[in-house]
Amino acid sequence: STAAMLAAPKVPLINPASLARFVDPLPIPPTMRAAGQRAHKAYPGQQLPYYRMEMRAFQAKLHRDVPATPLWGYAGSFPGPTLEAQRNEPLLVEWVNALPAQHFLPIDHNIHGAGKDTPPVRVVTHVHGARVPADGDGYPEDWYTPGHSKLYLYPNGQDAATLWYHDHAMGITRLNIYAGLAGAYIVRDAEEQKLGLPSGDYDIPLILCDRLLAQDGQLYYPVSDDPSAPWVMQCLGNLPLCNGKIFPFLEVEPRRYRFRLINVANTSFFDLSLSQDQAFQQIASDQGLLSKPLERVRIELYPAERADVLIDFSALAGKSVQLRHQSQGIVEFRVRSSATRDASVLPSALREVPRIDPASAARHRVMTLNEIDDANGNALMMLLDGKHWADPISENPRQNSLETWSFVNLTGDAHPIHLHLVRFQIVDRRPFDLFAWNAHRQLTFTGPAVAPEPHEMGWKDTVRADPGMVTRIAMRFEGEPGRYVWHCHFLEHEDNEMMRPYEVLPATS
Ligand code: C2O
Ligand code: CU
Repeated sequence: STAAMLAAPKVPLINPASLARFVDPLPIPPTMRAAGQRAHKAYPGQQLPYYRMEMRAFQAKLHRDVPATPLWGYAGSFPGPTLEAQRNEPLLVEWVNALPAQHFLPIDHNIHGAGKDTPPVRVVTHVHGARVPADGDGYPEDWYTPGHSKLYLYPNGQDAATLWYHDHAMGITRLNIYAGLAGAYIVRDAEEQKLGLPSGDYDIPLILCDRLLAQDGQLYYPVSDDPSAPWVMQCLGNLPLCNGKIFPFLEVEPRRYRFRLINVANTSFFDLSLSQDQAFQQIASDQGLLSKPLERVRIELYPAERADVLIDFSALAGKSVQLRHQSQGIVEFRVRSSATRDASVLPSALREVPRIDPASAARHRVMTLNEIDDANGNALMMLLDGKHWADPISENPRQNSLETWSFVNLTGDAHPIHLHLVRFQIVDRRPFDLFAWNAHRQLTFTGPAVAPEPHEMGWKDTVRADPGMVTRIAMRFEGEPGRYVWHCHFLEHEDNEMMRPYEVLPATS
């Protein structure tokens, strides 16, 4: 239904089949260096590392044979430099808006929740998966315009995990991230460091997304033809990018590597596999280590999901292996023939992940995922529990309390649902009777609950809510009281009402 709204591109686009494969080396984003030290009132008497991250317009070659592309990026790069943190070692980041006064992507609609006079260039940064105080979480309405900045505190009081930072400004996140405002944020901890996993040069983020490009190299963002529905509900690129390059290659040694796969695409999922029938060993999901490594042949990542994998190239000296999305190679690993010593190990156990008992939850919430269509079945907006962004807050868990949230998906698509602040566990997915729901708002299950697959048994912060299913998660609201958000991580949905505030209330007694 949504495809009907997409206008044919007004300019000729680059056809992926016309591009040479694996001609550019894979860029590895540099680790961000602190600009100095600063005090913060939350840590009296301490000096914290201070980072200054400037968002700037710049141009980059996304492929050898594509003209340079105008982009926006943190520290003038796409993806931005990697922020690295150690558990319980707080740091400060000043997020500086040094962008131009005008957006370069089409804003064809008065953006919801933002009012008519809203400046087109506004940003605010959220670290996806970080447990932070509410005033440093990048609340969508905390946006600011060029020439301004915000200083955020990251306590890093959480387990080692692959997080990522990205823009979150109200109503324009889809364009800001599409422009390039995203990067990796890695939390490490001693427990993980003891395991002997590949580290240093052998621990590499692979930041995946897709784009459409005009033949002159400009980013193309799809527009709608339908005046009654000026939004596009999806942005599916045809050019896969890894660390900001199209079809790059990486020379590797015949040994074990750790790759941190992060899907930062607007709407696309990645269905990843390796050529040569190689298996991945998945060691972590969104919020860090699984209980033990899992051998996986295919890894599906919805937007914002992460998977850390080990790939062992030791038996492949002199050969090449491709990371594929569906049947298409998107990155080529070229394995050198000379071996260096590999001291890393594949541990049999990683970290305990104690199961949350959903029956012990203080509160069980049930919320719907809704698509609002016009008479022709075109999607006009997506809602959470039938509510708009501006409606009063309805989810207000108590600090440290345990809750389950059930997402009753009334739409025809899966949606990646993300909660800020917390890590959660997937309890189950259970089919329900849509007609009974529509007729009497009654939840009638039509089959048994399906337990999450082994790779979904770790800590998560983004969950795929399948159509026709009730997807149930359980979490404890650890962290500071305040206002956070939960939303669909399809950025077009997030920007089009599929996002709600929620408020953590102070613990009683
Ligand atoms: Cu990845 Cu609300 O964010
Ligand atoms: Cu959605």
